[in-house]
This record gives sequence, structure tokens and C-alpha cells, in this order.
Amino acid sequence: MAELAFIQAFLEDNLAYARDKFRSRTELTVTSKRDANDLLTEVDLTLQKRAIEAIEKRFPGDRIVSEEGDYAVLPKSPYGRCWVMDPIDGTNNFVRGLFPIFAVSLAFSVEGRAASVGVLLPGTGDLFLAKRGKGAFLNGKRLHVSTVNGLGEARVDFDFSLIAEREEMLTRAREVFLRAGQVRCYGSAVASICQIATGDTDGYLHMSLSPWDYAASQLIVEEAGGAASRLDGSTLQLFDGRKGVLITNGAVHQEVLGLLR
Ligand code: IPD
Ligand code: CA
Ligand code: CA
Repeated sequence: MAELAFIQAFLEDNLAYARDKFRSRTELTVTSKRDANDLLTEVDLTLQKRAIEAIEKRFPGDRIVSEEGDYAVLPKSPYGRCWVMDPIDGTNNFVRGLFPIFAVSLAFSVEGRAASVGVLLPGTGDLFLAKRGKGAFLNGKRLHVSTVNGLGEARVDFDFSLIAEREEMLTRAREVFLRAGQVRCYGSAVASICQIATGDTDGYLHMSLSPWDYAASQLIVEEAGGAASRLDGSTLQLFDGRKGVLITNGAVHQEVLGLLR
């Protein structure tokens, strides 16, 4: 429980900082990374630095994987105790606005499997927590995925990401796109995946996510009764590279897999 309590305290302690920075976002220093839409701010770096310092103090010797700079190196194989962080997921939304949909994600994993995780949505103050085998909770309330069991009634989030990756989504997910009851695209993998755990959404698709994009939210959905896999139906692991991800309420998982090319 020590790790989950640590995650909860870290996220709660940083809520005001992240929310206030969003409110004064016109003053942010913004640079770009992989392309002009892939953004980085001082808030991403500050949250990452705060988490690293806190983990090193409380759990010395643990490995840390986080999106920015030297910490974005994945272990070659499942690794003992490893923290996986996305300091801000949905940085583009954080910089420009949009409802606001962005998240802070922190996961503690053992041997390549998430064990205790937390996701903070600073815009609403919502805090998701999950521990393997113990359920998922939003602000202390137990979560359950939806009971929607047909794609024609399902709400599916297609996360189109970088310009370079969109052709693959259009090709491979065409039939899912055409048959899904409702189609959404929010621009924060972490926040979107968590909405499956609340039952507000039924599916999420991405052609190539990094582990920090799903380490925490995958466990939150699984503990709420949902399912996660690669696009070929194989096990969704943490450290086997940047590849496609399908996360659903479980009931529509096979139907979506069957339609993916
Ligand atoms: C991005 C978001 C986005 C997804 C991108 C991610 P970032 O994370 O999760 O929804 O489509 O692939 O890189 O860069 O804002 O942390
Ligand atoms: Ca990020
Ligand atoms: Ca991210």
C-alpha cells in the first residue's frame, strides 16, 4: 500500500500547481518535440522533476521511466521495481485549452506489470486510483465499465495523434470507424482511457502509444472490469515497444478486434 499512498499524495500535492498553470496558460514557455503539434512546457518538466526527487527519496534504487529527456528509456525486459510517469498527458490541450482535457499519470510496476497507479485530471480535480486485484476508484468511489455490448451502440475514441500516424489508423480501423455508434477524439490518451473505467466511453484505439500513455490507465480500466490488448489481440505489455493499443469495456473487445486490419 505504501506505493499507492505515495502516488495519491504526490498527485494531490500537485493538483493546485497543474490547475493554476492551466488557468494562466498564456504565460507558459512552449517548445515542440517530434513535430509542431507535439509540445513541451516547463510544467511537464517541473512535474517530472518533482516526482523523480520524491521517488528517489522515498524508494531509493527504484527505476524511473518518464516521458521527458533521459528518463524516456525503456527497460530491455520486464524490470523489478519501476515507476512509469507521464507528467502531463495531452500537453497540446493543456497549452491551447479544450474543456480542459489533460492528465498527470503515475504508475508503479513490478516485473513489467502495473501494480499501483494513479491518474489526476487537474481540470476537474478528479483522482483515479487502482491497485491490482483491489479495484479502481474515482474520488473514492468504485468504478465499473459500461454494459454496452454491441459496437453499433458503443462510443469509441479514435486517438489520431501525429500526422505521420493517421494513415495507418484510417486504413486499419476503417470498419470500426464506420460501425461505431459514436466516434470521439480527445487528445489525451490517459484521460480518454480512464473514461472507459467510468463507463462514459466504451473503447479507445491508438496505433502507437508509449508505456507512459497507458501504464496507469490500463490498470484502472482492467480493475473496473474492462480489457486491454495489442491490435492483434496479444497481451498489452509495458516494455515491449511503442505499438498499437486497444482498450475497451471488455464486452465490445472481440468485435473491434475482428474488424481491425
Ligand atoms: C499524447 C496524447 C495523445 C496521443 C499522443 C500522445 P502527450 O501524449 O496522449 O492523445 O495521441 O500519441 O503522445 O504528448 O500529450 O503526453
Ligand atoms: Ca506527456
Ligand atoms: Ca502522453
